Amino acid sequence: MSNTKRDSNGYTPLDYDADCESDEVYQRCLSALLTHAPIERDDTVVDIGTGTGIVALELASKCDHVIGRDIYDDWLRYAREKAARRGIENVSFDHGSFRKPNVSEPVDVVVACYALYMAYDEGGEDELRAAIDGLAGVNPRCMVVADKMHFGPAQTPTDYETLPSMGTVATLLAGAGFTLTDVEIITESAGVLVATR
Ligand SMILES: C[S@@+](CC[C@H](N)C(=O)[O-])C[C@H]1O[C@@H](n2cnc3c(N)ncnc32)[C@H](O)[C@@H]1O
Repeated sequence: MSNTKRDSNGYTPLDYDADCESDEVYQRCLSALLTHAPIERDDTVVDIGTGTGIVALELASKCDHVIGRDIYDDWLRYAREKAARRGIENVSFDHGSFRKPNVSEPVDVVVACYALYMAYDEGGEDELRAAIDGLAGVNPRCMVVADKMHFGPAQTPTDYETLPSMGTVATLLAGAGFTLTDVEIITESAGVLVATR
């Protein structure tokens, strides 16, 4: 695919990267993820819902191997092209979902940036639970969720997405065997949770 191929809404991976670049809240979430994720130099990290690979490519210089997984193959192809252009060789991108991440090697940390809220938006708490349980199945010591979620009072649903509360995400992480060890609130509706087994 050319890296300007449009999806059915005319939106390209380049559009997405440009939007992220100019989205101040996204940038603050990304920066908090990079600061708070307890990633060691010899770790293998899964970036689930990797999209165009923004997070995976940032993490590549911090650890041994980054595994990017997504259900959107066109964006995975674009992420691979971006890694090749930058000469980054310790990142691999392939198909994988929240429920079935498609990872066979041992994993130290799972990160999810602006991704898991989609499970909640699609199917509420049950879908988010299945997503978190699927990711817990790769057996990481730590999960880092940098995402849209409510830290304040219950939300008024917007037209296009319904977000979980931070309490819901934390409870589901606890149900999967993880305890919150670090939290950074970016805005009332975005922040980073670090959960450790
Ligand atoms: C808003 S983008 C975020 C991409 C990237 N993490 C970032 O920080 O730029 C959400 C991504 O989650 C992916 N996604 C949605 N549902 C998914 C699922 N069930 N399993 C894996 N990825 C999923 C989408 O295809 C999309 O690439």
